[in-house]
Amino acid sequence: MALGWLAPHAEPGVRSVFRPPPGRRTVARRKSASYCAIVCTMDPNPFHFGSPVTGDRFGGRILELSTVLSCMANHINLVVLSPRRYGKTSLLEQAESVLRERQPLPAILHVNVLRCADLSELATKLVGQLYQVPGGTWRRAQTAVSEFVRRIRVHPTVTADLVTGLPVFAFAPQLTESDGSGIVEDVYGVLADLAKKRPAVLVLDEFQDVMEYAPRLPLLLKGLSDSYPDVSLVVAGSRHHLMEKLILTRESPLFGMAQKLALGPMPDEEMVPYLQERASRHGKKRMSAIVARKIIEIAGPTPNDIQHLAREAYDVAVDVIDMASVDTAVGRIIASQAQLFDVQVGSLTSGQQRVLRALARGSSTSLYSSAFAKSVGLAGQQSVRRAIERLEMNELITRTRSDWHVVDPFLARWLCAEGG
Ligand SMILES: Nc1ncnc2c1ncn2[C@@H]1O[C@H](COP(=O)(O)OP(=O)(O)OP(=O)(O)O)[C@@H](O)[C@H]1O
Ligand SMILES: [Mg+2]
Repeated sequence: MALGWLAPHAEPGVRSVFRPPPGRRTVARRKSASYCAIVCTMDPNPFHFGSPVTGDRFGGRILELSTVLSCMANHINLVVLSPRRYGKTSLLEQAESVLRERQPLPAILHVNVLRCADLSELATKLVGQLYQVPGGTWRRAQTAVSEFVRRIRVHPTVTADLVTGLPVFAFAPQLTESDGSGIVEDVYGVLADLAKKRPAVLVLDEFQDVMEYAPRLPLLLKGLSDSYPDVSLVVAGSRHHLMEKLILTRESPLFGMAQKLALGPMPDEEMVPYLQERASRHGKKRMSAIVARKIIEIAGPTPNDIQHLAREAYDVAVDVIDMASVDTAVGRIIASQAQLFDVQVGSLTSGQQRVLRALARGSSTSLYSSAFAKSVGLAGQQSVRRAIERLEMNELITRTRSDWHVVDPFLARWLCAEGG
């Protein structure tokens, strides 16, 4: 821990650039009213949000983890669904890293479909990862790259990474859908060969986005999974209505070919001890179970929001994360996002804004009743329906069972606050 100087008004835990004037340090140390010296909390914050968590950052989800592992290790296809930020990618990555600790080493390809601009990029990522998987016989050949490339019908260009020396594969950006499909077929075929001796898994995260650039891929995957049942195809997605079209309804291309895993909120019995342990064992501050529950109550069901609030409260607190630190943390999060909220809400029509505010306040009137339409100043149920659709499309609201609510708990508070 480092000793730092804070201006008298600065918040605890924040290192200030404020320094006592030269030559006055001794005086300043004695006169703590002028310059208060405090022990700065520069230890790393044990909470994390915004990107997937694995290793000791990954908590709970014991049953879900064993389901994913069992599917990956036993040639079972799997579809993982949840609202955004519930932890799909974390769960998959955690399962992959557990599987990689086992023998025989698995062959796992993991591509985030959303991060690929087109089919060519998806194919490039698949081929690049395939080259690296354990068990590839081409790796033993003297001319490993040409031995590998022989297995793919459309030959990529190959360059060497300047740092690692490893080959980098790339396909031309104007790859046709049929060439792209051919590459996916070949990759699947090679995985199936590997699957004879080791678990072989193809993970496609944010799968619904495949419709943006390769609408025939789901049907192709269905055929491939029938022909090569030893490969475990794992797809994950958050946009329920799109995933429904691809997988869940009887008419969808991948219907009935995968086990389904719907991630719900992490139960309090998992989340409370997780928060407490992160604070004290991985960080250096204490948090009671009551405060952990308070954080969960305020942040709502999304693990990402819970970690966000816990992280801010950890920063605010000195030794103990108490109710006051949580309250301050909420205020700080809202203040830091107020401008963004302003822009987000400002881009909506006034009717949509009123519906959003009513949902933030937890309106108890049935949404599609004429009383609700009247209360938000809309002409009738059709207008309310359109507003709801737009708000859902913008991922501002979501439905759990029959209730609609504002996705972001901090936006909801901002909307309820005066002037929001
Ligand atoms: N098992 C977990 N333990 C602790 N925190 C978790 C867990 N799963 C998710 N989180 C929290 O949620 C955040 C988002 O996780 P992740 O990116 O895996 O969610 P996601 O469902 O894949 O999100 P998206 O819908 O944006 O793809 C993490 O940064 C972390 O704060
Ligand atoms: Mg994800």
